[in-house]
Amino acid sequence: MTLRQATSDDIPAIMAIERQPGYEALVGRSSAEFHARAVIDPDYAYLAGLDADGAMAGFAILRGLSDLTGNVTLKRFVVAAPGKGMGTALLREVIDWTFTNTSAHRFWLDHIVTNDRARHVYERCGFRREGVMREAYAMPDDGGRVDLALMSLLRPEWERDRKVFTMPAAYPGR
Ligand SMILES: CC(C)(COP(=O)(O)OP(=O)(O)OC[C@H]1O[C@@H](n2cnc3c(N)ncnc32)[C@H](O)[C@@H]1OP(=O)(O)O)[C@@H](O)C(=O)NCCC(=O)NCCS
Repeated sequence: MTLRQATSDDIPAIMAIERQPGYEALVGRSSAEFHARAVIDPDYAYLAGLDADGAMAGFAILRGLSDLTGNVTLKRFVVAAPGKGMGTALLREVIDWTFTNTSAHRFWLDHIVTNDRARHVYERCGFRREGVMREAYAMPDDGGRVDLALMSLLRPEWERDRKVFTMPAAYPGR
């Protein structure tokens, strides 16, 4: 999985991925007008994950890059083919990109509380649950309101986990 910043040319692919059948109850989707504005907005980062053939395997939209308090949001996170490890691989790249290229102290997200697959991937990549925002999200097509779970990963946690991942197997302390 390689990561690159997306451009306006990538918006059709992004819209096709976020509109996949079955995703409507899991993740939000935006209009072409919204994406066209946001992709060039310095407060946002659009990150495309590319598979070995260079095709877009998924994407992440970050918001809050200009936030002076160091809170950056993972606004949207979607892969084209779920359940094949792409989400975990992409999220690790996105986390590294965020803490390397922004001044984020707290990288946070929310997810529909019943989206256990997403929760599993976020937890595996180090996000911790902060709480629940009750009835915070209105489902499409008048599907009622649902709770959102709030999660975050802090810069010191990322730094500590990176040291563990890169520690040589023969490190005397292990
Ligand atoms: C959420 C998403 C990005 C995760 O990416 P992915 O490529 O499917 O994730 P991976 O294949 O890397 O890992 C999925 C893990 O979830 C587990 N999983 C699947 N369904 C699960 C469930 N109902 N409950 C708990 N874990 C589940 C899998 O077993 C796997 O874990 P494992 O490797 O330990 O076995 C992707 O599924 C997606 O785009 N979903 C639709 C949009 C969405 O929900 N986005 C997130 C909005 S907050």
